[in-house]
Amino acid sequence: MSERQTIQWFPGHMTKTRRAIAASLKQIDAVAEIVDARIPAASRNPDLAGMTGGKPRLILLNKCDMADPDATAAWVACFQRQGVVALPVDCRSGKGIAAFVPAVRDLLGDLLARRQARGMVGGTLRVMVAGIPNVGKSSFINRLAGSAKARVEDRPGVTRGNQWFAVRGGVDLMDTPGVLWPKFDDQAVARRLAFTGAIRDEILDVEELAVAFLEELPAAARPLLAARYKLPAGWEALPPYEILEQIGRARGMLAARGAVDTERAAVTLLDEFRSAKLGRITLEYPERT
Ligand code: G4P
Repeated sequence: MSERQTIQWFPGHMTKTRRAIAASLKQIDAVAEIVDARIPAASRNPDLAGMTGGKPRLILLNKCDMADPDATAAWVACFQRQGVVALPVDCRSGKGIAAFVPAVRDLLGDLLARRQARGMVGGTLRVMVAGIPNVGKSSFINRLAGSAKARVEDRPGVTRGNQWFAVRGGVDLMDTPGVLWPKFDDQAVARRLAFTGAIRDEILDVEELAVAFLEELPAAARPLLAARYKLPAGWEALPPYEILEQIGRARGMLAARGAVDTERAAVTLLDEFRSAKLGRITLEYPERT
């Protein structure tokens, strides 16, 4: 859509992070990539797999408490078809977290067997936790490492500044060295990140964003919208801006001369999506393969 605002974002380049990850590779056995279960494709850094040089990987679909469970199951199956283990987790409540350590031990079964054959017992498995900002990396580490956040002290050969956290079950977690940015240059990706609040609203026109949200809302989520805002029969045929007006009207958001305050309606709509008051909504589905 040509009139749509272009989301401008200048995150700086990735060279520093790329270098820091490369320097840390020798210290890790696997990578746990955290994504937002509502946007499992948009919330990935497409270069991460290349940066981690073929290290075994698992994907954590975090915030699954806010995502459509059917969509999450479809994503788990999709990743599985690609040979990647994916676990749905909710780091806010801790749901699903218990599966992580067994999944890592399973993923690294060959390494554990090799270590055992060499008489090495009690060694830890070292996992880098990676993900773009706001997907829940700190929440995940806090959940797993506990509130005490037992920090593993510097060890020989460990790059200074890398943060390690010990987890029960023989796994150490390392925070991503540096910041991984998503693929902002793809506008569809940038919009989805903006819908979830991963891009701050101050740089965006909230009404335009809400209109784009309505246009792009997947079919599975439409009944949730209709129910929450008591939309009239036939609402789906309305232009998105008129749907926004309906939402404002349903909430009594009136401006001067009886017009609907669509800006307030837009803020409310996005807030209620982001806090999952609208329901459990996933914005992108895996392609059928
Ligand atoms: P990051 O390190 O990757 O940047 O992410 P962080 O853990 O800081 O989490 C970003 C936000 O997402 C936090 O909310 C956090 O509480 C929330 N969050 C993390 N995991 C989950 C989850 O599984 N479910 C839900 N619903 N939310 C999750 P915040 O608003 O920034 O902070 P706060 O409200 O927790 O204080």
